[in-house]
Amino acid sequence: MRKNLVAGNWKMNTSFQEAKKLASEVANMVKDEEISGVEVVICVPFPYLSVASKLSEGTGVKVGAQNCSQKASGAYTGEVSVTMLKSMEVPYVVIGHSERREYFSESNELLTEKIDIALANDLTPIFCCGESLETREAGDHFEFVCQQLTESLFHLTAEQLQKLVIAYEPIWAIGTGKTASAEQAQEMHAKLRSHLANQYGNEVAEEISILYGGSVKPNNAKEIFAGKDVDGGLVGGASLDSRGFVDIIKSF
Ligand code: PGA
Repeated sequence: MRKNLVAGNWKMNTSFQEAKKLASEVANMVKDEEISGVEVVICVPFPYLSVASKLSEGTGVKVGAQNCSQKASGAYTGEVSVTMLKSMEVPYVVIGHSERREYFSESNELLTEKIDIALANDLTPIFCCGESLETREAGDHFEFVCQQLTESLFHLTAEQLQKLVIAYEPIWAIGTGKTASAEQAQEMHAKLRSHLANQYGNEVAEEISILYGGSVKPNNAKEIFAGKDVDGGLVGGASLDSRGFVDIIKSF
């Protein structure tokens, strides 16, 4: 069965001191409040992965990277490879966040390479997709997001596909305080699942966790997560507050 998952995406925030405090608060709350039935992941900046893993040990919290290189190793100054992440036992990596697509020109084609190398190294990709406001207003959102899946994922075998997590994040809802309604989220998630089912069959599509991202907060998480095809959230801003983030996790 697919699992419920809540991932915090810290983006390019926190000092080292703040990161240590935040990671240990989240880890301790998840442990002390005996949260179960939800996989909790914190996607921290690269330099903090090691300490966040250490602080999370034995608490049930997992760490994730926010990006990776499509290259295995070599002369790529400033890049971080999945083999590095694997050697640090980092289990998750966010791939194709809309901020990477927009500011770092990551195309569906490039993301194919990142997905492949992450899977080949046993990392679980959290593959992000989502449309702009313009695309939604033009009524092309379903087609656009399905196309992102087709172009970046449909070369995978069913077995590979089942190893990844999808995060639907409408760009117009990221960091804007404007969430998709619970109905809009469920509608898109159902559409994505049926798109996966068309290619891979129902049984496979039912196994894939699809997260919603975009201004998820403690006061709207419960309603959003209630959607039958919504298996959790990718949480940006609200994951920087430990209490709020853990309350979101507890919305299940
Ligand atoms: P937000 O970000 O929760 O701050 O809207 C979500 C994301 O970009 O993953």
